[in-house]
Amino acid sequence: MMADTPRVARPVPPGLIGGFILAPMAGYSDSAFRRICRGLGATATVTEMVSVQGLTRRSLGSSRLLLSHPSEHPLGIQLYGAIPKEFSRATALVRDMGFEFIDINAGCPVKKVLKSGSGASLLKDLPRLLDIVQAVAESSSGLPVTVKIRIGWSPEEALDEGIGTLLGDRGACALFVHARYRSEPFAGRPDTATLSRIVTASPIPVIANGESSSPEAALEFLSRSGASGLLVGRGAIGKPWIFRALRGGGPGSPLPGELSGTVLSHLGMMREYLPEPFVYHVFRGQLVHYLKGFRGASGLRGQAVAIESVEDVERICGLAEGCRDEQGG
Ligand SMILES: Cc1cc2nc3c(=O)[nH]c(=O)nc-3n(C[C@H](O)[C@H](O)[C@H](O)COP(=O)(O)O)c2cc1C
Repeated sequence: MMADTPRVARPVPPGLIGGFILAPMAGYSDSAFRRICRGLGATATVTEMVSVQGLTRRSLGSSRLLLSHPSEHPLGIQLYGAIPKEFSRATALVRDMGFEFIDINAGCPVKKVLKSGSGASLLKDLPRLLDIVQAVAESSSGLPVTVKIRIGWSPEEALDEGIGTLLGDRGACALFVHARYRSEPFAGRPDTATLSRIVTASPIPVIANGESSSPEAALEFLSRSGASGLLVGRGAIGKPWIFRALRGGGPGSPLPGELSGTVLSHLGMMREYLPEPFVYHVFRGQLVHYLKGFRGASGLRGQAVAIESVEDVERICGLAEGCRDEQGG
């Protein structure tokens, strides 16, 4: 009988083990937001998902998604697609752009993405996913490769708990596992027990994902899962202070006066790469979330979705903080 080939431990990118990582979120995790989150304690960040097809065609949309700043590293670029060869070509294009790792999206439940055989579709076609992982690993010139999966397509088609072994054997150094099925994209509680079985069986580190509703709930989820770190998504939108709280460095909500400072820096960073007045249109979606944490500020939503200038944003943040002061914090 042939002896088992010894597994080579692949280097894991910095910021993942024991870390709190900002999740890839299309429409939110852009360069400015990644900088804000990293500044407040995120240990690593990941870009929004980038199409391998778009990249190889060098479309403008994809190239804006590639913008980054030194202060948001360690930074992974997330790729999505369905064809191993396209992943190879895209990997060759991005591997020398300064990213610390390449992440493969095998979890996106959006219809358009599924239709093309990408995202969570790959959970139903494991041979293809494994070929993609190998294609990226072979084209990355040693840059670490991670994979973001869900626990399966549906409870009836759950992934085997040995998924970490399969992906690790083809070149992944770590996994991000969203503890939900594609059939329940974001609702309900994450399935910590299934996640924990995947973690236990995996020879490569697993980063847990799927609970960031509060720092307390997220830390309990992480601890029960036994995972090596936590990927934080929705809980960071409008509340980047969650990273500070997760690391025991202060409250998960802004200190008095901190809302304006954070929001204005966020907008300022966006203005470095988005033209006026477009930048204000994009920022409206972020501002509305920042205001959510301020009881009494719901009346400001209407103003937030009409901002046209830095002054508008300053005024609205001032009013929101005023609401809080009136309520005694
Ligand atoms: C608006 C939005 C956009 C997202 N975009 C992506 C994406 O581009 N790539 C990806 O792998 N996951 C994406 N996700 C999923 C998140 O990365 C994460 O897996 C999910 O939100 C669960 O984590 P949470 O409970 O901390 O939010 C997105 C989620 C949201 C809410």
